[in-house]
Amino acid sequence: MASWRLMAALLLHLLPLAAMAAQDAFVGVNIGTAVTDMPNPTQVVALLKAQQIRHVRLYDADPAMLTALAGTGIRVTVSVPNQQLLAIGQSNATAANWVARNILTHVPATNITAISVGSEVLTIIPNAAPVLVSALQYIHAALTAARLDSRIKVSTAHSSSIILDSFPPSQAFFNRTWDPVMVPLLRFLQSTGSYLMLNVYPYYDYMQSHDAIPLDYALFRPLPPNKEAVDSNTMLHYTNVFDAVVDAAYFAMSYLNFTNIPIVVTESGWPSKGDSTEPDATLDNANTYNSNLIKHVLNNTGTPKHPGVAVSTFIYELYNEDARTGAVSEKNWGLFDANGRPVYVLHLTGSGSMLANDTTNQTFCVAKDGADRKMLQAALDWACGPGKVDCSAMVQGAPCYEPDTVVAHASYAFDAYYYKMGMAEGTCDFKGVATITTTDPSHGSCVFPGSNGSNGTFINGTSLAPSSNSTSSGSSLSFHTGNSISCVTISVVLLLSAVFL
Ligand SMILES: *[C@@H]1O[C@H](CO)[C@@H](O)[C@H](O)[C@H]1NC(C)=O
Ligand SMILES: *[C@@H]1O[C@H](CO)[C@@H](O)[C@H](O)[C@H]1NC(C)=O
Ligand SMILES: *[C@@H]1O[C@H](CO)[C@@H](O)[C@H](O)[C@H]1NC(C)=O
Ligand SMILES: *[C@@H]1O[C@H](CO)[C@@H](O)[C@H](O)[C@H]1NC(C)=O
Ligand SMILES: *[C@@H]1O[C@H](CO)[C@@H](O)[C@H](O)[C@H]1NC(C)=O
Ligand SMILES: *[C@@H]1O[C@H](CO)[C@@H](O)[C@H](O)[C@H]1NC(C)=O
Ligand SMILES: *[C@@H]1O[C@H](CO)[C@@H](O)[C@H](O)[C@H]1NC(C)=O
Ligand SMILES: *[C@@H]1O[C@H](CO)[C@@H](O)[C@H](O)[C@H]1NC(C)=O
Ligand SMILES: *[C@@H]1O[C@H](CO)[C@@H](O)[C@H](O)[C@H]1NC(C)=O
Ligand SMILES: *[C@@H]1O[C@H](CO)[C@@H](O)[C@H](O)[C@H]1NC(C)=O
Ligand SMILES: *[C@@H]1O[C@H](CO)[C@@H](O)[C@H](O)[C@H]1NC(C)=O
Repeated sequence: MASWRLMAALLLHLLPLAAMAAQDAFVGVNIGTAVTDMPNPTQVVALLKAQQIRHVRLYDADPAMLTALAGTGIRVTVSVPNQQLLAIGQSNATAANWVARNILTHVPATNITAISVGSEVLTIIPNAAPVLVSALQYIHAALTAARLDSRIKVSTAHSSSIILDSFPPSQAFFNRTWDPVMVPLLRFLQSTGSYLMLNVYPYYDYMQSHDAIPLDYALFRPLPPNKEAVDSNTMLHYTNVFDAVVDAAYFAMSYLNFTNIPIVVTESGWPSKGDSTEPDATLDNANTYNSNLIKHVLNNTGTPKHPGVAVSTFIYELYNEDARTGAVSEKNWGLFDANGRPVYVLHLTGSGSMLANDTTNQTFCVAKDGADRKMLQAALDWACGPGKVDCSAMVQGAPCYEPDTVVAHASYAFDAYYYKMGMAEGTCDFKGVATITTTDPSHGSCVFPGSNGSNGTFINGTSLAPSSNSTSSGSSLSFHTGNSISCVTISVVLLLSAVFL
């Protein structure tokens, strides 16, 4: 009996990680705003939709941005800015006020799923460290009072530099200076079912390693087996820096006896441009890193220590922040410029060829050959009416008026709708008279939405979206077949233990 009870207790402890294993990992994007011509929130949200970006992290709780995100289904992690941390950590009333003003006014219309209380507090504003855990607790208490604590997780984003001796990962530990903060913090994350937020920058690890870390290892490029890093304590093989850092964090937590706290990577990326001291900040490397990172995360590969356990990741970052000070690379971490033009086109499909201008797999939605004219006309009318497509390009004198045929006009309207819906699956159908093509239907001055890759960093359109069929809410949890077996096993054992208790 006692052993069953123990086993049940142990299994309950394992559940959060098991739950992460059952869930698909997502890729989100950070939205920094140090941009000279910062697009307005409506434009930002239009870009997110066009690129099928379903998860974002903000560095504050900007009301205009949160309002623009309302009703989009996009999951939002908001932040308590560092400069507000001291006040919130010292007063539960201030914390309650912050939650009332920045959270309660926006949920449920805006799907806020997490609050990052401060950013890299231990390394950037160590003087606030003594109140960090109180700040999390006060914010959490305010959410609990509003019955939002199960929906909104509370955590704080750490720099991975608080992890020492991070290779081999099995020997990693948190800088002991911070044990008085980390232990209660991890206890808080555990008891509230939250996760460790970690910023992972293989770029800096590589830069600071003075060639000890091969570039390929930082970029997730395949290594010859004899070059793979092996942790001699665990015999686990590491094929990339990202996994090694995430595992170092798992080991550092388990060193403090916390073995069931999941990790979400709140920042990771690679700069596409640098000065002469930053020769590896290039378009190609940025493209390679982010393309491989996205594939790695969405594949639910997990890490060598926890294979199959989701490590959802927010790419740093959406826009190049040209107004940031410091090295040239600081201004060049973005996927897009302020006009929403991709800095480079990610390679998310197929062979992993390294063409920065690869638009070969760009897709468009057009009228099907030989489709019934009446049905095309009806679909065209629907798109320009209830479908709310902007059909002004097809009025007389406008660029897409010629050729004045139902087929040509329907094609334009279908494609505009397809892009308006973020190229989601099922949005190029129109009762069977539409079809997807890779041939750009633009002609003359009539530019079809999606043409020339200007809107198409994520060639495949669905790449950052959950691979499910739902287009708007995306609320269906998809289960990763590879892991569901272990979850089933656990619930069966739990059932058994319930019988025996
Ligand atoms: C703050 O904490 C005090 C003491 O624990 C409690 O009485 C009070 O209700 C809390 N206030 C808020 C706004 O949560
Ligand atoms: C640990 O953190 C303290 C406080 O920030 C810092 O002074 C010290 O250099 C860190 N130790 C290492 C080895 O980085
Ligand atoms: C972790 O647990 C072990 C075994 O129970 C114990 O010896 C050790 O002191 C604990 N470490 C911490 C940091 O609590
Ligand atoms: C995807 O995951 C499978 C196992 O789940 C693994 O064998 C494969 O190498 C992974 N692919 C990538 C690109 O990570
Ligand atoms: C795309 O190609 C053109 C010319 O071939 C080049 O000028 C441009 O810089 C390329 N764009 C990117 C993002 O590499
Ligand atoms: C484009 O798609 C084709 C077929 O779907 C695939 O074979 C090819 O590798 C893709 N090209 C790139 C560059 O991803
Ligand atoms: C999406 O789901 C609906 C109903 O569940 C189904 O009819 C439709 O064929 C699916 N579309 C795609 C593209 O899988
Ligand atoms: C990009 O997308 C926007 C809105 O989705 C659209 O108005 C614009 O025409 C597109 N540009 C190109 C070149 O496709
Ligand atoms: C798209 O690319 C084609 C061929 O590279 C070029 O002729 C055309 O002008 C481009 N269209 C736009 C809108 O940039
Ligand atoms: C788009 O991505 C999905 C899921 O990753 C994949 O099944 C599909 O083949 C891709 N489509 C193209 C055109 O590459
Ligand atoms: C909000 O996000 C959560 C977590 O991803 C999801 O379970 C829920 O369905 C979403 N709600 C809406 C309205 O999109």
